[in-house]
Amino acid sequence: MASGQLSREEALACEGCRHACHVMLFCNTNSKLFGKIPIRHIPLMQMRFDGLLGFSGGFVNLSKESLEEGLRRELSEELGVDITISEEHHVDACFSPTSSLSSSSRLILHFYVKKMEEEEIRKVEQMASSTAADHGQEVLGMVRVPLYTLKDGSGLATFLSHSFVGNARSQLINSLQRFNLVPPQELHKALSRAMEINSQTAMNLQVVMT
Ligand code: APR
Ligand code: MG
Repeated sequence: MASGQLSREEALACEGCRHACHVMLFCNTNSKLFGKIPIRHIPLMQMRFDGLLGFSGGFVNLSKESLEEGLRRELSEELGVDITISEEHHVDACFSPTSSLSSSSRLILHFYVKKMEEEEIRKVEQMASSTAADHGQEVLGMVRVPLYTLKDGSGLATFLSHSFVGNARSQLINSLQRFNLVPPQELHKALSRAMEINSQTAMNLQVVMT
Protein backbone atom coordinates (compact mmCIF):
# COMPACT_ATOMS: atom_id res chain seq x y z
CA MET A 1 0.00 0.00 0.00
CA ALA A 2 1.40 3.44 -0.95
CA SER A 3 2.52 5.69 1.91
CA GLY A 4 -0.30 7.80 3.31
CA GLN A 5 -2.82 5.23 2.15
CA LEU A 6 -5.07 3.38 4.60
CA SER A 7 -7.00 0.17 4.23
CA ARG A 8 -10.78 0.44 4.67
CA GLU A 9 -10.41 -1.34 8.04
CA GLU A 10 -7.62 0.98 9.27
CA ALA A 11 -9.68 3.99 8.22
CA LEU A 12 -12.76 2.74 10.07
CA ALA A 13 -10.67 2.06 13.19
CA CYS A 14 -9.51 5.70 13.39
CA GLU A 15 -11.13 7.21 16.49
CA GLY A 16 -12.45 10.74 16.11
CA CYS A 17 -11.75 10.86 12.38
CA ARG A 18 -14.27 12.37 9.99
CA HIS A 19 -14.93 10.57 6.72
CA ALA A 20 -15.84 11.73 3.21
CA CYS A 21 -16.63 9.37 0.33
CA HIS A 22 -16.43 10.22 -3.37
CA VAL A 23 -16.93 8.06 -6.45
CA MET A 24 -15.91 7.98 -10.09
CA LEU A 25 -18.82 6.63 -12.14
CA PHE A 26 -17.86 5.58 -15.65
CA CYS A 27 -18.96 3.54 -18.66
CA ASN A 28 -17.56 2.29 -21.93
CA THR A 29 -18.83 3.84 -25.15
CA ASN A 30 -18.55 3.22 -28.88
CA SER A 31 -19.39 6.82 -29.70
CA LYS A 32 -16.92 9.00 -31.58
CA LEU A 33 -16.12 12.70 -31.40
CA PHE A 34 -16.72 14.38 -34.80
CA GLY A 35 -17.67 10.89 -36.00
CA LYS A 36 -14.03 9.74 -36.01
CA ILE A 37 -12.21 10.08 -32.67
CA PRO A 38 -13.07 7.20 -30.32
CA ILE A 39 -14.32 8.47 -26.95
CA ARG A 40 -13.79 4.95 -25.46
CA HIS A 41 -14.95 5.65 -21.88
CA ILE A 42 -17.03 8.28 -20.12
CA PRO A 43 -15.86 9.06 -16.55
CA LEU A 44 -18.04 11.61 -14.77
CA MET A 45 -16.83 14.47 -12.60
CA GLN A 46 -18.54 17.65 -11.47
CA MET A 47 -17.95 21.37 -11.35
CA ARG A 48 -18.32 22.19 -7.66
CA PHE A 49 -19.70 25.27 -5.93
CA ASP A 50 -16.11 26.39 -5.18
CA GLY A 51 -15.14 26.44 -8.87
CA LEU A 52 -13.04 23.28 -8.54
CA LEU A 53 -13.50 19.98 -10.31
CA GLY A 54 -14.24 17.02 -8.05
CA PHE A 55 -16.03 13.72 -7.80
CA SER A 56 -19.58 13.26 -6.57
CA GLY A 57 -19.98 12.43 -2.89
CA GLY A 58 -19.34 14.13 0.42
CA PHE A 59 -19.23 13.85 4.19
CA VAL A 60 -20.52 10.66 5.79
CA ASN A 61 -21.81 10.42 9.36
CA LEU A 62 -20.68 7.02 10.66
CA SER A 63 -22.88 7.28 13.76
CA LYS A 64 -25.91 7.12 11.49
CA GLU A 65 -24.82 5.32 8.31
CA SER A 66 -22.12 3.12 6.80
CA LEU A 67 -19.58 4.59 4.38
CA GLU A 68 -21.49 3.18 1.42
CA GLU A 69 -24.93 4.25 2.74
CA GLY A 70 -23.56 7.76 3.25
CA LEU A 71 -22.13 7.86 -0.25
CA ARG A 72 -25.45 6.64 -1.66
CA ARG A 73 -27.24 9.45 0.23
CA GLU A 74 -24.76 12.04 -1.09
CA LEU A 75 -25.24 10.75 -4.64
CA SER A 76 -28.99 11.01 -4.30
CA GLU A 77 -28.61 14.68 -3.22
CA GLU A 78 -26.00 15.62 -5.82
CA LEU A 79 -27.17 13.49 -8.76
CA GLY A 80 -30.87 12.91 -8.08
CA VAL A 81 -30.51 9.14 -8.60
CA ASP A 82 -30.33 6.11 -6.35
CA ILE A 83 -27.01 4.38 -7.03
CA THR A 84 -26.02 1.36 -4.97
CA ILE A 85 -22.40 1.44 -3.88
CA SER A 86 -20.80 -1.54 -2.18
CA GLU A 87 -17.47 -2.36 -0.51
CA GLU A 88 -16.21 -3.91 -3.75
CA HIS A 89 -16.20 -0.42 -5.31
CA HIS A 90 -13.90 0.99 -2.57
CA VAL A 91 -10.47 1.56 -4.16
CA ASP A 92 -8.59 3.59 -1.57
CA ALA A 93 -8.62 5.70 1.55
CA CYS A 94 -6.15 8.36 2.70
CA PHE A 95 -5.89 11.31 5.03
CA SER A 96 -6.98 14.54 3.37
CA PRO A 97 -3.94 16.51 2.17
CA THR A 98 -5.55 19.62 3.66
CA SER A 99 -6.44 18.22 7.09
CA SER A 100 -4.06 19.18 9.86
CA LEU A 101 -1.84 16.43 11.29
CA SER A 102 -2.49 17.51 14.86
CA SER A 103 -6.25 17.84 14.45
CA SER A 104 -8.27 15.46 16.61
CA SER A 105 -10.82 15.19 13.83
CA ARG A 106 -8.69 14.37 10.81
CA LEU A 107 -10.54 13.88 7.56
CA ILE A 108 -10.23 10.52 5.80
CA LEU A 109 -11.09 10.52 2.10
CA HIS A 110 -12.50 7.30 0.70
CA PHE A 111 -12.57 6.80 -3.02
CA TYR A 112 -14.81 4.44 -4.99
CA VAL A 113 -15.05 3.56 -8.67
CA LYS A 114 -18.19 2.07 -10.22
CA LYS A 115 -18.60 0.93 -13.80
CA MET A 116 -22.07 1.43 -15.24
CA GLU A 117 -23.85 1.05 -18.58
CA GLU A 118 -23.84 4.00 -20.99
CA GLU A 119 -27.62 4.37 -20.61
CA GLU A 120 -27.24 4.65 -16.84
CA ILE A 121 -24.53 7.33 -17.16
CA ARG A 122 -26.80 9.31 -19.53
CA LYS A 123 -29.61 9.03 -16.98
CA VAL A 124 -27.30 10.30 -14.21
CA GLU A 125 -26.44 13.33 -16.36
CA GLN A 126 -30.12 14.05 -17.07
CA MET A 127 -31.28 13.65 -13.48
CA ALA A 128 -28.32 15.66 -12.09
CA SER A 129 -29.44 18.69 -14.09
CA SER A 130 -33.18 18.26 -13.51
CA THR A 131 -34.19 16.65 -10.20
CA ALA A 132 -31.05 16.71 -8.03
CA ALA A 133 -31.53 18.85 -4.91
CA ASP A 134 -27.98 20.22 -5.12
CA HIS A 135 -28.13 21.24 -8.80
CA GLY A 136 -27.10 24.86 -9.30
CA GLN A 137 -26.02 25.14 -5.67
CA GLU A 138 -23.33 22.71 -4.45
CA VAL A 139 -23.09 21.13 -7.90
CA LEU A 140 -22.85 23.52 -10.85
CA GLY A 141 -22.88 20.76 -13.46
CA MET A 142 -21.67 17.31 -14.38
CA VAL A 143 -18.73 17.01 -16.76
CA ARG A 144 -17.39 14.14 -18.83
CA VAL A 145 -13.62 13.65 -18.72
CA PRO A 146 -12.22 13.65 -22.30
CA LEU A 147 -9.76 10.75 -22.51
CA TYR A 148 -8.59 11.34 -26.07
CA THR A 149 -5.74 13.51 -27.34
CA LEU A 150 -6.39 15.71 -30.37
CA LYS A 151 -3.75 16.60 -32.98
CA ASP A 152 -2.88 19.86 -31.20
CA GLY A 153 -2.30 17.96 -27.92
CA SER A 154 -5.56 19.16 -26.32
CA GLY A 155 -8.18 16.88 -24.77
CA LEU A 156 -7.11 14.90 -21.71
CA ALA A 157 -4.06 17.16 -21.14
CA THR A 158 -6.18 20.32 -21.09
CA PHE A 159 -8.66 18.70 -18.71
CA LEU A 160 -5.85 17.66 -16.34
CA SER A 161 -4.51 21.23 -16.32
CA HIS A 162 -7.69 22.54 -14.63
CA SER A 163 -7.99 23.03 -10.85
CA PHE A 164 -9.21 20.11 -8.76
CA VAL A 165 -10.35 19.83 -5.13
CA GLY A 166 -8.00 18.05 -2.70
CA ASN A 167 -6.44 15.01 -4.34
CA ALA A 168 -9.17 14.54 -6.98
CA ARG A 169 -6.66 14.87 -9.84
CA SER A 170 -4.55 12.02 -8.38
CA GLN A 171 -7.69 9.97 -7.81
CA LEU A 172 -8.61 10.49 -11.47
CA ILE A 173 -5.13 9.62 -12.78
CA ASN A 174 -4.82 6.53 -10.54
CA SER A 175 -8.24 5.31 -11.66
CA LEU A 176 -7.44 5.81 -15.35
CA GLN A 177 -4.36 3.62 -14.79
CA ARG A 178 -5.97 1.03 -12.53
CA PHE A 179 -8.93 0.42 -14.85
CA ASN A 180 -6.85 0.68 -18.06
CA LEU A 181 -8.95 3.55 -19.39
CA VAL A 182 -5.98 5.31 -21.02
CA PRO A 183 -2.77 3.59 -22.27
CA PRO A 184 0.16 4.42 -19.87
CA GLN A 185 2.22 6.25 -22.52
CA GLU A 186 -0.73 8.40 -23.57
CA LEU A 187 -1.40 9.27 -19.94
CA HIS A 188 2.24 10.17 -19.34
CA LYS A 189 2.26 12.46 -22.40
CA ALA A 190 -0.99 14.11 -21.32
CA LEU A 191 0.48 14.82 -17.87
CA SER A 192 3.63 16.40 -19.36
CA ARG A 193 1.49 18.49 -21.69
CA ALA A 194 -0.77 19.52 -18.75
CA MET A 195 2.31 20.87 -16.95
CA GLU A 196 3.25 22.94 -20.02
CA ILE A 197 -0.32 24.25 -20.27
CA ASN A 198 -0.19 25.26 -16.60
CA SER A 199 2.99 27.28 -17.06
CA GLN A 200 1.48 28.98 -20.12
CA THR A 201 -1.66 29.73 -18.08
CA ALA A 202 0.44 31.32 -15.33
CA MET A 203 2.13 33.56 -17.93
CA ASN A 204 -1.23 34.46 -19.53
CA LEU A 205 -2.61 35.44 -16.13
CA GLN A 206 0.42 37.62 -15.49
CA VAL A 207 -0.21 39.42 -18.79
CA VAL A 208 -3.88 39.94 -17.87
CA MET A 209 -2.85 41.39 -14.48
CA THR A 210 -0.51 44.00 -15.99
N1 APR B 1 -10.04 14.82 -2.77
C1 APR B 1 -9.80 15.41 -1.60
N2 APR B 1 -10.70 16.11 -0.92
C2 APR B 1 -11.91 16.18 -1.44
C3 APR B 1 -12.25 15.60 -2.67
C4 APR B 1 -11.26 14.90 -3.33
N3 APR B 1 -11.48 14.29 -4.49
N4 APR B 1 -13.52 15.87 -2.93
C5 APR B 1 -13.95 16.60 -1.88
N5 APR B 1 -12.98 16.76 -1.01
C6 APR B 1 -13.05 17.39 0.30
C7 APR B 1 -13.77 18.73 0.25
O1 APR B 1 -12.85 19.80 0.16
C8 APR B 1 -14.46 18.73 1.58
O2 APR B 1 -13.58 19.20 2.61
O3 APR B 1 -13.85 16.52 1.06
C9 APR B 1 -14.70 17.27 1.90
C10 APR B 1 -16.13 16.87 1.69
O4 APR B 1 -16.44 16.82 0.32
P1 APR B 1 -17.70 17.61 -0.31
O5 APR B 1 -18.06 16.83 -1.52
O6 APR B 1 -17.36 19.05 -0.45
O7 APR B 1 -18.77 17.45 0.85
P2 APR B 1 -20.35 17.58 0.78
O8 APR B 1 -20.86 16.81 1.96
O9 APR B 1 -20.84 17.21 -0.58
O10 APR B 1 -20.57 19.11 0.96
C11 APR B 1 -21.03 19.67 2.19
O11 APR B 1 -19.03 20.68 2.93
O12 APR B 1 -17.28 21.16 1.46
C12 APR B 1 -18.11 21.65 2.45
O13 APR B 1 -19.14 23.73 2.83
C13 APR B 1 -18.94 22.74 1.86
O14 APR B 1 -21.31 22.88 1.49
C14 APR B 1 -20.24 22.02 1.47
C15 APR B 1 -20.37 20.96 2.54
MG1 MG C 1 -19.96 16.84 -2.44
